[in-house]
Amino acid sequence: MAPDLLALSALSLEADSLRNGDPCYPLPSDSSKNAPNKAAAAERSRSDPSPVVGAAAAAAASSPLLSPRPTLMRLETVKSSECLEALMLSPSVRSTVSGGLFSPRIHSFEPHPMIGEAWEHLRRSIVYFRGNPVGTIAANDSVEEVLNYNQVFVRDFVPSALAFLMNGESDIVKNFLLKALRLQAWEKRIDNFTLGQGAMPASFKVLHDPVRRTDTMVADFGESAIGRVAPVDSGFWWIILLRAYTRSTGDHSLADMPDCQRGIKLILTLCLAEGFDTFPTLLCADGCCMVDRRMGIYGYPIEIQALFFMALRCAKTMLKQEAPGNKELLERIDKRLNALSYHMRNYFWLDHHQLNSIYRYKTEEYSHTAVNKFNVIPESIPDWVFDFMPMRGGYFIGNVSPARMDFRWFLLGNCVAILSSMATSEQAEAIMDLIEERWEDLVGEMPLKISYPAIEGHEWRIVTGFDPKNTRWSYHNGGSWPVLLWLLTAACVKTGRPQMARRAIEQAEQRLSLDGWPEYYDGKLGRYIGKQARKLQTWSIAGYLVAKMLLEDPTHLGMVSLDEDRNMKTLMTRSASWTV
Ligand code: GLC
Repeated sequence: MAPDLLALSALSLEADSLRNGDPCYPLPSDSSKNAPNKAAAAERSRSDPSPVVGAAAAAAASSPLLSPRPTLMRLETVKSSECLEALMLSPSVRSTVSGGLFSPRIHSFEPHPMIGEAWEHLRRSIVYFRGNPVGTIAANDSVEEVLNYNQVFVRDFVPSALAFLMNGESDIVKNFLLKALRLQAWEKRIDNFTLGQGAMPASFKVLHDPVRRTDTMVADFGESAIGRVAPVDSGFWWIILLRAYTRSTGDHSLADMPDCQRGIKLILTLCLAEGFDTFPTLLCADGCCMVDRRMGIYGYPIEIQALFFMALRCAKTMLKQEAPGNKELLERIDKRLNALSYHMRNYFWLDHHQLNSIYRYKTEEYSHTAVNKFNVIPESIPDWVFDFMPMRGGYFIGNVSPARMDFRWFLLGNCVAILSSMATSEQAEAIMDLIEERWEDLVGEMPLKISYPAIEGHEWRIVTGFDPKNTRWSYHNGGSWPVLLWLLTAACVKTGRPQMARRAIEQAEQRLSLDGWPEYYDGKLGRYIGKQARKLQTWSIAGYLVAKMLLEDPTHLGMVSLDEDRNMKTLMTRSASWTV
């Protein structure tokens, strides 16, 4: 595979920086362009009596931008001292448009000392390509083996991007979105097989040649990844982030660009393609998302289904109605959204009532009248789920396919279901109730469990293939991931339960910085720093910042949340399934 580097170097983004002969990134973002806004924002924050406190202001108050020039990374282009000037003089607080409203910015509380520290770490993780910031590396750990943690992962960059957007720094996000789009255009091959055009990379890396003073890029679409699985989530996150950028900045020109419109369509072409499927859900290989190792999530994992749903809804808001072929495409999106929401809300949903009905299922039913449509054998229900299921609460289970229900809890999919409104408002409330009821299990001493419960013994051997990284209560197998804090917080804000998020954040604040911002924690309660966890893991840092900013300024929620579409309310009543 020979990446088209010549084509890449012709990108306007890079060309601009070369034309200007300025290898210096005017950090943070476009201070000059926004100079008029700065005065307006200052004026607003003086006069706005709203008690809502902007976390961006808090972050700025702890002076991340006034802190010493971020340590330059190995990969980035050397900067001149003028950059430091630009950094020091840049606006520490900028207006951010969120949900059409300007966020109030009032410094009325003492920010947590971790906020300043987190911003410093986040800035040090920035990766530059030809002088422009294009993303953040996965981890800045100098001790653990690097593997691919020195790359920019698409999914990992999402919380970084949100933090930057919430702080009014949109350039890095725009650059990232454009860069990922260029990479999508590469020819992607694994051995002799060519991947679909729409596939987005899991990660990319900037290679800096200090002698020739050139930067080049390599990307990984799964052909180098452990397990060789393509990241199905990357394209969805890209679409979701493009909408977040548009909502946050009010700048529609990026999403309207023909290249972006094409990028969206290529992703959709991949996942709306017709095949032999009998379900509207997306069939996936194991390890195709955040859980990127064999963990028995093959089939129809909840994480992908929720992201798919959200990406479809986000794409709908950005695709130009009048463009040729878009009318049909939008109709296909609508149809799929309807079918998907019906399927998910009915067949993936589990609460006490539903569990009881599955427990009493008859099997071997044939024809349309079948209640137990997928022929799930009640004996396959694991014992733990009967104790785990509270009387009040419910959740979307991990996977549903013929004769197989994976009852495990996965936080990411459930939170994205809330944010995208794939969950009805009742279901969203029930998910939050369940988290509240099962706090010890799902939050424990370090938020948050990626999945619950862990698989062990024979099951672990069969399902993971003896994976020593995914032993019980570690890593993807019941490990605790601080990055998930932002998703929980967003779900809490959406469902009006900020106190829950506050509690989880306070829990994290007791250890996260002291422990060096680990990637994940191990143990039933998340008490131990993960066996192979990287330190200074960027998304643990960014996830914390986003959680803080969301809580302090709930208007940011509009970037990552979509209201319920009432037309989609096609929930099958339970009695229907009982009486047929
Ligand atoms: C691990 C995680 C994956 C993440 C990557 C970089 O592989 O499983 O979700 O994107 O590390 O942090």
